[in-house]
Amino acid sequence: MTIIKELEETIHKLSAKGKGILAADESTGTITKRFEAIGIESSEDNRRAYRELLVTSPDASKYIAGVILFEETLNQKTSQGILFPQALKNLGILPGIKVDKGLIHLANTKDEQVTQGLDGLPERLAEYKAKGACFAKWRAVYAISDQTPSELAIETNAEILARYAAICQAQGIVPIVEPEVLIDGTHTIQRCEEVSEPVLHAVFNALYRHKVKLEYIVLKPSMVISGKACSQKASVDEVAAATLRVLKRTVPGAVPTINFLSGGQSSEQATAHLDAMNKQGPLPWNLSFSYARALQDSCMKTWLGQSKNAAAAQKTFSKRALLNSLAATGKYAEAMEKDEISLAS
Ligand code: 13P
Repeated sequence: MTIIKELEETIHKLSAKGKGILAADESTGTITKRFEAIGIESSEDNRRAYRELLVTSPDASKYIAGVILFEETLNQKTSQGILFPQALKNLGILPGIKVDKGLIHLANTKDEQVTQGLDGLPERLAEYKAKGACFAKWRAVYAISDQTPSELAIETNAEILARYAAICQAQGIVPIVEPEVLIDGTHTIQRCEEVSEPVLHAVFNALYRHKVKLEYIVLKPSMVISGKACSQKASVDEVAAATLRVLKRTVPGAVPTINFLSGGQSSEQATAHLDAMNKQGPLPWNLSFSYARALQDSCMKTWLGQSKNAAAAQKTFSKRALLNSLAATGKYAEAMEKDEISLAS
């Protein structure tokens, strides 16, 4: 198959209306923190069992088009002895892979960070592709303060995101481009908007310079939202309006799908915000989710590392995925949070 054909097939599936992406690519350090916070031992087998539980939840493939895996999971087998990428494909879900190697300090800035992992990336991608990965993810972060993000951090992260995306496309792998403006801090929604617009402009400028084909990327941005510690909380409608305003100013219509990260919002907030934006359609792009915490939180807390809780945990996950699927078409209502849902077994 030609590279373009591969990219076309993958993006077509990832941008299916009413479907989103499950981010299950927490590094071992991150998932260990999340497990230990609720008393789950972070053994290799517990991580495997938990991720198998997520992807085999009833009806998952109706709501989830792709799952981002961490490298460890790419090499693990399900309890049926099937490697995860193949097990996902058998379910009709595309396997993806986190390829960045995390954050380091950006020299000559005050505590700003840049993402590393470009060295050896082509070779790693070839290996991941041979193991079944069809798409990849790279996350850049921008912290908001009075002085940050600096122009240096904005430009450096944009350049690196674009280089990553170009390398992925050259190998027939769809890149998820993830610029995350962090929710931490006391900033207002206005300040978040003021920062998010130049961040996205720089990213799309760099993607253009690096000749990245916008038709074959997934943009994974943060929403424009008030800081977690801000005393004036923006309403759902304010978040939807500000986020759409910034996206319309910065993201060309050639981009097929925008899949938000949840970034520390509660599960209910992340769903309500996505729904409110889709209710304001038609929009130039598919607008959906690529959540980790907002999809997994209640499921993980129901499971608690115990097999006797697995069925209930899966039901919790399926319900969250269904509600986000509805939000991805603007058909969610808060009252549905209390509804019992019937799922295929
Ligand atoms: P959250 O939805 O928990 O922000 O995670 C998304 C993600 O993939 C972070 O890189």
